[in-house]
Amino acid sequence: MRLYQELHRPQFHFSPRENWTNDPNGLVYQDGVWHLFFQHNPKATTWGNTHWGHAVSDDLVHWRQLEHALYPDEHGDMFSGSAVIDHDNTAGFGKGALLAFYTAAGSYADPKRPFTQCLAYSVDNGKQWTKYDGNPIVEWFEADNRDPKVVWHAPTRRWIMALYLAEYRYCLLHSADAKSWTRFQDLSLEGCTECPDFFPLTDESGTERWVFWGAKGTYRIGSFDGGRFTPETALLTSEQGTNGYAAQTWSDAPDNRRIQISWMLGGVYPEMPFSQQLSIPVELALAGTGENVTLVRWPVRELDSLHRRTVNLDRHAVAPGSPLIADTQAKLLDVSFSVRKQDAKTLYVAIRGQSMEFDWSSRALRFRNGASHRLLPDKPQVSLPDEAQLSVRLLVDKTSVELFINQGRISASYCFLPSGYVHPLVLQSYEGEQIIEDFELREVASIWT
Ligand code: FRU
Repeated sequence: MRLYQELHRPQFHFSPRENWTNDPNGLVYQDGVWHLFFQHNPKATTWGNTHWGHAVSDDLVHWRQLEHALYPDEHGDMFSGSAVIDHDNTAGFGKGALLAFYTAAGSYADPKRPFTQCLAYSVDNGKQWTKYDGNPIVEWFEADNRDPKVVWHAPTRRWIMALYLAEYRYCLLHSADAKSWTRFQDLSLEGCTECPDFFPLTDESGTERWVFWGAKGTYRIGSFDGGRFTPETALLTSEQGTNGYAAQTWSDAPDNRRIQISWMLGGVYPEMPFSQQLSIPVELALAGTGENVTLVRWPVRELDSLHRRTVNLDRHAVAPGSPLIADTQAKLLDVSFSVRKQDAKTLYVAIRGQSMEFDWSSRALRFRNGASHRLLPDKPQVSLPDEAQLSVRLLVDKTSVELFINQGRISASYCFLPSGYVHPLVLQSYEGEQIIEDFELREVASIWT
């Protein structure tokens, strides 16, 4: 079987050529190139032996895998981290050097080699990486502290690092030269561990707000003056599906865009030469102001370049015996519609034989995704807003479904394995009627052909 054409291979999501990936790392945009580094075991389809793999894209859609960027060394395996452009040569490796911050995972067998934070740099647009000879740049604090995410804070002219400590605790550090770091604030995200992200966005009143984010997609929004982050919202949940994890946003994205990609944790890929895939890149924005501000996630517009044949339907009453059978045999779909619930109990959306259920009475959404692993078992099912009409967008790839409700105010990522089916997409009801309007299905092209 040709590479990237295999039965369960994602066709418009990134997956490694071979073997294992988990978190996206070192996301940075430089000179027209979107860099995507990723946790990678180049030797097996299971986690371990962690390198930083590397892929690049001109358009956030088509990816080309390159040589691995970071290899394990005497400080340990190469765990997750981030990358930035050093525009002002603060670190002394040259103007415009790429700086990568990563965790060296030490050695469980040798307590004298704990988890530390390290620096590597590239002066040729990410082709070759040199590890800083003064590593580690942040000594061990506690437990398996890890996952440095670095952002430039222009008003104070310093780098800010968000770092995971232990339990639900994180800290912030600052540095003028990206090499020597001072810890200045500890904070926690209840119920959330690993992979922080910390970035500014502008809310609907035009005010700059900062988002502090943990691996499960829970976050708080607040203010940040370079010396203190003050949370101003409760703990919020962005990604509500069972398979979105360890999201990270790109540094230096053009036009002030804040673009995020995550690991679709827990997917199952029987008989495949690879394991795991990443999500579609989404653009983040803030809806609301003050305490009532929330994140909105929406697939990047570049994805539209993959749209092919379109199927439109103005209106269809989905009722027992009157399903909406989409006129397609495609397996890659970008589908939008609005649904008015009427007297129906549940809308069933059968996606290649697996059922997504919009349960109106409990206001919950479930996806029976046929995957045997549920690595996030304590994640609640998606709560649907208490509205009579919802707008829905579904991105369906070979082994994943991403759901966006009400223009991305609610989102959820799922991995799945198909079941038996005759039609790839069927909307049905077993009790009562619901009205589907503005149904638009786009068949999506593969990025590998
Ligand atoms: C999150 C994580 C990180 C760690 C990496 C190791 O999925 O556990 O905390 O750096 O994966 O691969």
